[in-house]
Amino acid sequence: MQDAGFVQKAFARIAPRYVLTNHVLSLGIDILWRKATANRIAELKPQWVLDLATGSGDLAMAIQSSCPQAHVLGGDFTPPMMTEAQRSGFHHLIAADALQLPVADGSFDVVTVAFGLRNMASWPRAISEMSRALRPGGHLFVLDFSLPTLPIVRPMYVFYLEKIMPQIAGLLTGHRDAFEYLCQSIERFPSGKDMEALLTSHGFASATTKPLSFGIASLYIAQKAQS
Ligand SMILES: C[S@@+](CC[C@H](N)C(=O)[O-])C[C@H]1O[C@@H](n2cnc3c(N)ncnc32)[C@H](O)[C@@H]1O
Repeated sequence: MQDAGFVQKAFARIAPRYVLTNHVLSLGIDILWRKATANRIAELKPQWVLDLATGSGDLAMAIQSSCPQAHVLGGDFTPPMMTEAQRSGFHHLIAADALQLPVADGSFDVVTVAFGLRNMASWPRAISEMSRALRPGGHLFVLDFSLPTLPIVRPMYVFYLEKIMPQIAGLLTGHRDAFEYLCQSIERFPSGKDMEALLTSHGFASATTKPLSFGIASLYIAQKAQS
């Protein structure tokens, strides 16, 4: 869990280079993760989708393209990140703190959050708010980094996270410290069964995990009870 003021300042500083840095650091794999998430959402044929911590709007745009019938709204609390979304052509945006959403109960069929929950000041409160915003039976999709569980892959990835990634990101953005924070936040963030337990103890009836790319990222899908 993170300090909201620190998070806002960090994202405001890196906003203009956020998308490029993401794609370079992940070798473009982050695009495939968002696409896979959007494809799973399309199977549900939602009408109303809220993408929280939408930032540059990359996931919101992937969902809009997979679900042309849906009304997709992006919410974030860092204006310079939302400016990047507008620059990319995504304009359905609301200024919103995920811990106090300015939306009525049960407004959305699907709520999503990609690489955002990890940065929030209270994971339980954010998850409860997302549940409140969903209609009964609605789905939450959480896409975020995780640590691989395979014994060979995990130490290699941790070495990359701690030693290599902050250097490359520092060169691209001029803000190496923001990426040292990223690495620490990934190590602290619950994953797998721990994340499923967090979801089912804060407003969701069920939760599953789909590890992506050897578990470097995970997609959690949680469903709110039908009534
Ligand atoms: C790493 S970016 C993710 C952007 C985008 N979802 C993506 O897939 O690349 C994290 C975003 O979370 C936002 N954020 C963090 N805490 C938030 C909160 N409590 N409410 C709304 N947005 C928040 C930040 O402003 C930032 O834009």
